[in-house]
Amino acid sequence: MASAAPGSDARGFSFVLEEQDGRLSLRAQHHPDYGVICADWTSAAARSRVRSGKRQALARATGVGGRTPLRVIDATAGLGRDAFTLAALGAEVLLIERHAQIAALLRDALRRAHADAWSADAAARMSIVEADALALLRARTVHADVIYLDPMYPHSAKSALPQKEMQLFRELTGGDADADQLLDPALACAAARVVVKRPLRASPLAGRAPHHEIATGQARFDVYPKHAAGG
Ligand SMILES: C[S@@+](CC[C@H](N)C(=O)[O-])C[C@H]1O[C@@H](n2cnc3c(N)ncnc32)[C@H](O)[C@@H]1O
Repeated sequence: MASAAPGSDARGFSFVLEEQDGRLSLRAQHHPDYGVICADWTSAAARSRVRSGKRQALARATGVGGRTPLRVIDATAGLGRDAFTLAALGAEVLLIERHAQIAALLRDALRRAHADAWSADAAARMSIVEADALALLRARTVHADVIYLDPMYPHSAKSALPQKEMQLFRELTGGDADADQLLDPALACAAARVVVKRPLRASPLAGRAPHHEIATGQARFDVYPKHAAGG
């Protein structure tokens, strides 16, 4: 285990934001051998996700990429990879992130995406709110066609995130242990459907079986259409 870094919290974790090459990054000082993490929506990987277009599982599960542009709330935005893909495929996306340092990375990514000719169009359809989505959804202050949820899965399961990034996210967020509570308020605020991303063999969110699922080699998208929710 790494020795306690300056400014570390009670669990011995110490995360600092730093400016590097014109972009904001997050460094885990208690893992000196790990690289930094940042949100980057103009990378080769991001471009390849966008090129996969409406055939990809995320687009099929959410319905984004069709003729009618959809309003999507990504209520667990993280580094905004999925949110950016959805915006690039034509959706208007509200990103909600409750962790202050992660939200700072998102704002920085959005600033850079506006400045890049390739991503500026999608960036214009994205907005970020730093808040607890559970509170906003319960108060019914946010509404969209689709609500997308991708909380951390608290148990060790194969995840779509790279190993080190998953560990850092667990340490940063504590593992999103309250995630089950998001499903009902999300269904109340979504006009068309709620989509939940899960590790392949994980149980469904809140133990509630979806109407259908779309699986890829890395993750599963559980789809809860409003018509099937009785709403
Ligand atoms: C696995 S990450 C999401 C990754 C994201 N889909 C992407 O493409 O980069 C989960 C994120 O959801 C955030 N989160 C979990 N519950 C939340 C809530 N109730 N409100 C806002 N953010 C939440 C966590 O802080 C974490 O950053």
